Amino acid sequence: MPHFLDLAAAESAGLRTILDEAHRRKAARAGWPKGRVDADAPLAGHVLGMIFEKPSTRTRFSFDMAARQLGATTIVSSAGEMQLGRGETIPDTARVLSRMVDALMLRTNSHDKLEKLAQHASVPVINGLTDLTHPCQVMADIMTFEERMGRAVTGSTWAYVGDGNNMTNSLIEAASLLKFDLRVGVPRGLDPDPGMMATACARGGCIGLYHTPQEAMVNADCVVTDTWVSMGQSEAKEKLAACTPFQVNDALMAQANPGAIFLHCLPAHRNEEVTDSVMDGPQSAVWDEAENRLHVQKAILLWCLGRIGGAD
Ligand code: CP
Ligand code: NVA
Repeated sequence: MPHFLDLAAAESAGLRTILDEAHRRKAARAGWPKGRVDADAPLAGHVLGMIFEKPSTRTRFSFDMAARQLGATTIVSSAGEMQLGRGETIPDTARVLSRMVDALMLRTNSHDKLEKLAQHASVPVINGLTDLTHPCQVMADIMTFEERMGRAVTGSTWAYVGDGNNMTNSLIEAASLLKFDLRVGVPRGLDPDPGMMATACARGGCIGLYHTPQEAMVNADCVVTDTWVSMGQSEAKEKLAACTPFQVNDALMAQANPGAIFLHCLPAHRNEEVTDSVMDGPQSAVWDEAENRLHVQKAILLWCLGRIGGAD
């Protein structure tokens, strides 16, 4: 079953296929009304079910629009509105929903729940963010980089600065699969997941871990940050203090390569992890990045449903 739980599931070739399809479909519908279905309506008659255990703006709207543009429809629910919230098990939920929809997307507090859903579903399951990873977002980030730079991501250098979190973990995985250099700068004690780091390095990934933001910025073509307090985490004063030197501001951006772009998965906490001047400045590609969630998710759906890349 071609689930999209993490980037490694699609391997490098699958990720390249997904990115190429996303670029192609975006170009093919340039200037169209957003709700018009793509000319080939490849998923006509299909239904995507989405379950949210945590809030979402981009993931919810982009998956919904992705399905519509492919000719499919969606059912969206928060976990709390389902019997899941009253103790129905994930395996039973997986079995039931697999009889009703063609693919499932889950945003959850726990990566284990996602894996359990996939284990018991007989339709593809997509990771819409867990505490451990956020693979769909990182695919949109890479698409945005390629679009802005006019070249493939392979061989570029990225800097991630801030809290070592689900975004960092997926970037680490992406760097090792798509062969770009990643320099992670995080406060001591806020390192990304050591297991994901070890797997990526064993795969040959070129990933550096530093505890100053300046070291991360060396030779960077792309600078990425994320919120210092992820959903479900408590806002500890000590953590915010430790993260403060890692703020992406004009002075830090000046240490990246000239022409480097700035990415943030959003929502941003303006003037915490990033200043207004960077968010709204000429190097920022965050609005393209948000739009590209839609385009890349279309390609992920097509990959999961065996329409591209031989995933079936
Ligand atoms: N970047 C992202 O996943 O945003 P949402 O939480 O709004 O879905
Ligand atoms: N790290 C953030 C990403 C939000 C899209 C979180 O998990 O809240």
